[in-house]
Amino acid sequence: MTIDPLHDIFHTTFFGVRAIQHWSDVVLWELFFNEHPDIKTVIELGSGGHGLSIIFALHGVTYGFQLHTFDRRRYDSLDWPLPKMLGLEKTSHVVDLFSEQGKKKVTDLLQTALHPLLLFCDDGDKPREFAAFVPHLRPGDHVGVHDWGVEFFLEDTVPLEGMINLKPWRFALADEMGGSTRIWRVQP
Ligand SMILES: C[S@@+](CC[C@H](N)C(=O)[O-])C[C@H]1O[C@@H](n2cnc3c(N)ncnc32)[C@H](O)[C@@H]1O
Repeated sequence: MTIDPLHDIFHTTFFGVRAIQHWSDVVLWELFFNEHPDIKTVIELGSGGHGLSIIFALHGVTYGFQLHTFDRRRYDSLDWPLPKMLGLEKTSHVVDLFSEQGKKKVTDLLQTALHPLLLFCDDGDKPREFAAFVPHLRPGDHVGVHDWGVEFFLEDTVPLEGMINLKPWRFALADEMGGSTRIWRVQP
């Protein structure tokens, strides 16, 4: 069977490292970081095999931000040459995000990390992590979700209405590109 690299999310690799992403998601991140060179911290919740962490870390080299990743398991790819070269292990946190320890780690980091930051939700329960952690963001921060329209829907933002003001960032373009990532900016 032939694999379609542009649309088959389950066979994607970035620099040979597994990523459950569409290539159009990478294009959207390219535009995002070009437009937001002031981002100081990126937090990826649900790093999986670290393919996307590599993309984030390389942007971090260009723009000078710090990447933190979270996952409940440690992936062997952290020992591979490129993740090692980028030092991913040093800021890779192995913890269940919904345990008391996990929730504290993320909320503490949201307090102490340099802002503006980007929080990217890509673990096993996106609506739950969105509801748990987005209220801790500050104006000027951004939040991204993956699996838009599959595991996360516009309705999942409704419980936060009145608590935090989220403005969609380039949704029309993201819709047109057909990727799985959507991003919001936190407004005052
Ligand atoms: C869809 S994968 C992440 C894909 C990755 N961001 C990428 O782009 O390749 C989801 C990850 O979330 C992790 N995960 C699921 N539930 C979790 C939890 N409660 N706490 C921490 N990690 C969790 C899984 O171990 C898995 O690696």
